[in-house]
Amino acid sequence: MSLLSRLKENWLQPFFFFGNNPVTLIGSGLTTASAITLLSYWMMQMVGHRFANPYLGIIFVLFLPALFVGGLLLVPIGMLLRRQALRQAGQIPASYPALHLDDPLFRHGVIVVLAATFVNFIIVGLSSYRGVAYMDSPRFCGQSCHVMAPQWTAYRESPHSHVDCVQCHVGSGMESYIQAKVNGTRQLVEVAFHTWPTPIRATLNNLRPARETCEQCHSPTRFVGEKLLVKTTFGDDEKNSVTRTVLVLHLGGVDSVSHFSGIHGHHLNHFEYVATGADEQTIIAVTATNPDGTTTQYVSTDWKGPIRGVTRTMDCMDCHNQATHVFQTPQEAIDEAMLDGSPSPDLPFVHKEGLQLIQAKYSSQAEAGRKIVAGLDDFYRTKYPDVWTSQRPKIDAAARRLVAIYDRNVYPQMKITWGTYPNNIGHMAYPGCFRCHDGNHVSRDGKTLSNDCSLCHNLLATDETHPGVLNDLGLQNELHLQ
Ligand code: HEC
Ligand code: HEC
Ligand code: HEC
Ligand code: HEC
Ligand code: HEC
Repeated sequence: MSLLSRLKENWLQPFFFFGNNPVTLIGSGLTTASAITLLSYWMMQMVGHRFANPYLGIIFVLFLPALFVGGLLLVPIGMLLRRQALRQAGQIPASYPALHLDDPLFRHGVIVVLAATFVNFIIVGLSSYRGVAYMDSPRFCGQSCHVMAPQWTAYRESPHSHVDCVQCHVGSGMESYIQAKVNGTRQLVEVAFHTWPTPIRATLNNLRPARETCEQCHSPTRFVGEKLLVKTTFGDDEKNSVTRTVLVLHLGGVDSVSHFSGIHGHHLNHFEYVATGADEQTIIAVTATNPDGTTTQYVSTDWKGPIRGVTRTMDCMDCHNQATHVFQTPQEAIDEAMLDGSPSPDLPFVHKEGLQLIQAKYSSQAEAGRKIVAGLDDFYRTKYPDVWTSQRPKIDAAARRLVAIYDRNVYPQMKITWGTYPNNIGHMAYPGCFRCHDGNHVSRDGKTLSNDCSLCHNLLATDETHPGVLNDLGLQNELHLQ
């Protein structure tokens, strides 16, 4: 007997004979179908088709391979079960039937495998096509997943509320594509098993580089020049006295003769820094590339260890890390709200009381909601009964706004509180620019990254009641000054 016919009689024929049972047929259908789908997916990737959605990874990285292995396991299980059943009934034949395409057994198997492949193709094809469109939407990323609520809320109020999450969060190229897939899958597992990190930490290195995101819409070389900033703050006195700080930021850019200047201009060169952790808050060293191609390294004099850690090339997001997910400081939030009219500056001590109420510790947003309303009501009822009687609607509105401020920034269940997410744009509430420009980062030849106040801005007025400069600019009324 030839090797081929021995193989056929001793292996293939019993294989198909015992294989003719529902469990094995379903198993081989699943395996074949998922294998073909996976193969065509890999082929599409090889010819360069890019699937933008990280969550698609869940189908291709987790679900289909699991289906493939599961189907593969069903094949021998079904065969063993059938052999056992036939043996018990004494029906194991002395020789196994031969294989022909007109043999109903064999045809059965082939048809089931083909049908399952076809159905699977349609299901996966349709669901990934429809699913991609849906899963790419900010609604899916931000809303269907409650752990994203803090980032989603901040996003919706930002100037970028119309930019898709994946545009900033999924990089291009194979490496970041795979990374996004792995992240997406990991996040799904975390949500399924309730093991997501609290708070969810931002890592700039995981984001798509600014060149592919920010710079698609904002030209990095646009010359802004000087930018006027007016900051309004309310005091902790009975009258909630208003003061203004006025500064002119030297934003600069690249001017018409290709001269780099100011805040924007200077950091466009290749600056590489080393930070102690992925939150980039403690910067040990920064290396600037000079116009002539040489480099200057500034090292923190506070740092005694080796210069090792998280390295990163500076881009827009190192300053604008909160371009989209803006988490306010309690002062910023309440000042902004009061400038907007509620809490009304007419209510005595509302700034001081409001700040205390939103900064107190609560176990949940629901508890904060109750206690903030009760707290403000108590304050006016006991300390200012006249105001309490005559200005009730203003007090209620103020309380509601305070609760809204709290809900927008603090998420006890995610361990997100005031200050959890530092904003790098300034230097007052967080280190920000002073992570490097603290006057302590010094180069080997003795140059210091200066923290001279006029390096970045001219301070025209600091906490003044009636800054003359606003009069000169004709802005007194524009800014509802009293
Ligand atoms: C314009 C760009 C942009 C868009 C659009 C955007 N993000 Fe972000 N996102 C960022 C940046 C920048 C950070 C880093 C913040 C930091 O370092 O403080 C971040 C951080 C986050 C984080 C913190 C965890 C981490 O490491 O990434 C989450 C969660 C997040 N974004 C979710 C979302 C969701 C959900 C959406 C859509 C609803 C979205 N983002 C849209 C730019 C963006
Ligand atoms: C899809 C286009 C798009 C992308 C991508 C984008 N932006 Fe914007 N950005 C805008 C538009 C449009 C505005 C103006 C919105 C407005 O004035 O309401 C804006 C506003 C801003 C502002 C001014 C905000 C303010 O409060 O005045 C800053 C800063 C900014 N973007 C930085 C960034 C950074 C940093 C990134 C990358 C993380 C980025 N943008 C990505 C379109 C984009
Ligand atoms: C060294 C820090 C830093 C870097 C890097 C940086 N910016 Fe800025 N940017 C600022 C500061 C500071 C402001 C002014 C903030 C304010 O208005 O409160 C600003 C303002 C802006 C504005 C608003 C301008 C206006 O006319 O009001 C835009 C848009 C912007 N940046 C985009 C970008 C983009 C895009 C990049 C990357 C190419 C970038 N920035 C890199 C610090 C930086
Ligand atoms: C990662 C470190 C780092 C951070 C963070 C940083 N800078 Fe810089 N900055 C530098 C370096 C390095 C230089 C270039 C020094 C040189 O010319 O050798 C520089 C230069 C400047 C200059 C030009 C100084 C000059 O000599 O004219 C300005 C203005 C400036 N930075 C403003 C800012 C502002 C505003 C922020 C925060 C929004 C900021 N920087 C954040 C590293 C940093
Ligand atoms: C490396 C650049 C840089 C240096 C140096 C610097 N600042 Fe600033 N400062 C900024 C930026 C950027 C902002 C605006 C932040 C924003 O957009 O909200 C700012 C804002 C301010 C504000 C207004 C902040 C507010 O929220 O009320 C004050 C006050 C101020 N700086 C004081 C100083 C003083 C005093 C010095 C000198 C010790 C100094 N700054 C040095 C970059 C700098």
